[in-house]
Amino acid sequence: MIAAQFKARHSALVEEIRRHDHAYYVQARPTVSDRHYDQLYRELIDLEVTHPELVTPDSPSQRVGGAPLTAFKNVRHAIPMMSLDNTYSEQEVWAFVIRVQKLVPDEPLEWTVEPKVDGVAVSLRYEDGVFVQGATRGDGTFGDEITANLRTIRGLPLRLRGALEDSVIELRGEVYFPTKAFEAFNEEREAAGEERFANPRNATAGSLKQLDSKLVAQRPLAVVLYGVGEVRLPKAAVPMPDRQVGLLDWLNELGCPTPEKLWRCLSADEIIAAIEELDLLRRSFNYETDGAVVKLNAIRLRDRIGVTSKAPRWAMAYKYAPEQAATRLRDITIQVGRTGKLTPVAELEPVFLSGSTVSRATLHNEDELRRKDIRIGDTVLIEKAGEVIPAVVRVVLEKRCGDEREFVFPKQCPECGTPVQRDQTADGDGVDWRCMNPDCPAQIRGRLEHWCHRGAMDIEGGGEALVVQLVRAGLVRDVSELYRLRLGDVAALERMGSKSAQNFMDGVEASRKQDLWRLIFGLGILHVGVGVAKALCRAFPNLDEIAKAGAAQLKSVPDIGDVIAQSVENWFADSKNRELIERLRQAGLNFDSSLYRPREVGGTFGGKTFVLTGTLPTLSREAATARIEGLGGKVSSSVSKKTDFVLAGDEAGSKLEKAQKLGLRIIDETEFLRLCEASAT
Ligand code: IVH
Repeated sequence: MIAAQFKARHSALVEEIRRHDHAYYVQARPTVSDRHYDQLYRELIDLEVTHPELVTPDSPSQRVGGAPLTAFKNVRHAIPMMSLDNTYSEQEVWAFVIRVQKLVPDEPLEWTVEPKVDGVAVSLRYEDGVFVQGATRGDGTFGDEITANLRTIRGLPLRLRGALEDSVIELRGEVYFPTKAFEAFNEEREAAGEERFANPRNATAGSLKQLDSKLVAQRPLAVVLYGVGEVRLPKAAVPMPDRQVGLLDWLNELGCPTPEKLWRCLSADEIIAAIEELDLLRRSFNYETDGAVVKLNAIRLRDRIGVTSKAPRWAMAYKYAPEQAATRLRDITIQVGRTGKLTPVAELEPVFLSGSTVSRATLHNEDELRRKDIRIGDTVLIEKAGEVIPAVVRVVLEKRCGDEREFVFPKQCPECGTPVQRDQTADGDGVDWRCMNPDCPAQIRGRLEHWCHRGAMDIEGGGEALVVQLVRAGLVRDVSELYRLRLGDVAALERMGSKSAQNFMDGVEASRKQDLWRLIFGLGILHVGVGVAKALCRAFPNLDEIAKAGAAQLKSVPDIGDVIAQSVENWFADSKNRELIERLRQAGLNFDSSLYRPREVGGTFGGKTFVLTGTLPTLSREAATARIEGLGGKVSSSVSKKTDFVLAGDEAGSKLEKAQKLGLRIIDETEFLRLCEASAT
């Protein structure tokens, strides 16, 4: 191919991938198989690696995130980002409609009602149709420039559809964390020893604040757009619609996701009916909504009506009350987590709330209990904060009769009796009390469950039920003792059939050979999630090297910052932990980086380029790639004269043909494995 052909192929790939992204992320109607999509994407990346001059800011490759920033830049919004006045009642809706009508007495007014998306407001600037800058609202005049983070959002078009030369289009909308993905995300964080996010909005805000866009790329953020800021279209272009209804259609035509539903209303009564309809529908949306936004449909009239210092006069937000229920607080218990943290839990008279029965709610910490003066026997009001986690809002004081008991926060761990200690932070006392006894049964159980977890060593059957029994029977005190268990001991436990005992033992056995990243994650080191565990494996050949590394060296690893590096150093500095590692070594666990491993500079495959095609009999693409890279080689997705090996499996297609034409070296899995073996000796 000559330069012009590469360029044409690049544009064609960008265009096709953009169409598939739009179908998948905006319309939720995928048009191609994942496999085909991956092929296109790989071809694009390859083309850009060999021809870096082809990379454009709107290429889908730009969504993976770039180098971390040290701080966000401040940008001024061309048109300020305003907020909305809130209303909470029908009367206020009436008053609003009358107020606006008085300002334009001669005009018949039309209104729109849309969901109020509970996310983080952003402004997106497109020049000549290309996304060039994105910012948070900030104080409305200046916001943080978070372009790199926003680029990672798959549903956000990097180029708008249509001919938009010489145009500036600023779009306004909301980034959100899809509710369906939120629970799993929180569970993963918890498993990694990180704080849960209280609700999807906090998760969105926390994600957009990351200075490392590569981390943002790993979160499933989405966006919905409902308005515009500065818009400059060339004279010849079709003008922007002058009604909200048309504006949302126009945004759709540009390729943007817009709110789930829109109502057109002619009176306050119709607005109220729409608000009620939306209330019935909104829980089925994949974003949280905390209200309805009422806007004047005619954009032309908005200027005449004007704005106050912080909000337009032509729009308002109707806020739905969070669903609440009153119930009796039967008791307060203390939960001791894997890291020894004591969490007070409200044990409630079961009550139905927003679609599920609630019988427990977190009380967070001692300060929270005191601030709310919550006593056992109280009637409390609970609500689903962010519609997800039930929380106690307040005590219903009128229901107090005097028999309620104050809860005394324990000074000793309720599990093991060890005196508890308050966390210390740089600014003094933290909020949490912690049991400092590493042999506390609650912590032992937590660590064992975490080790067996699907995302860690993946030992089937190692959930709460079995772990409680193993610890209670004194059979297991730490994860290394799982490897000394005998089938008979496990089968003899309560409610344990011989079949499930055998399955569990098989899982334990298989886990000896698990990849090192699973073992590292399974150790439950504070701040070490799956991503960090894999990064460690890519940087060090084995566990011993990681243990020896020290914070300074750890910090030089991509994706690992000060806090994580220090946490890893501390963990391995503890002699108890080092002894545990020795016991795991004796139990024959795998300590070598295998799937993820350091690139061997000048290794067997040093400087060699591989192309994979077709399905290999035993190796997955990920495994084959990891091996090649581990031995210093590179994997490319398109065949060229520079390709050194074509590793071909079943149903290899055009790449194989091309390789034959070019007379390249074609190998199958058996030969590949032989080459790998040869390098091991
Ligand atoms: S229009 C000039 N429409 O709610 C005012 N805002 O509480 C432009 N929001 O700052 C706002 N969904 O971040 C509008 N459908 C929607 C919205 C919406 C959520 C946010 C927006 C605004 C905040 C005000």
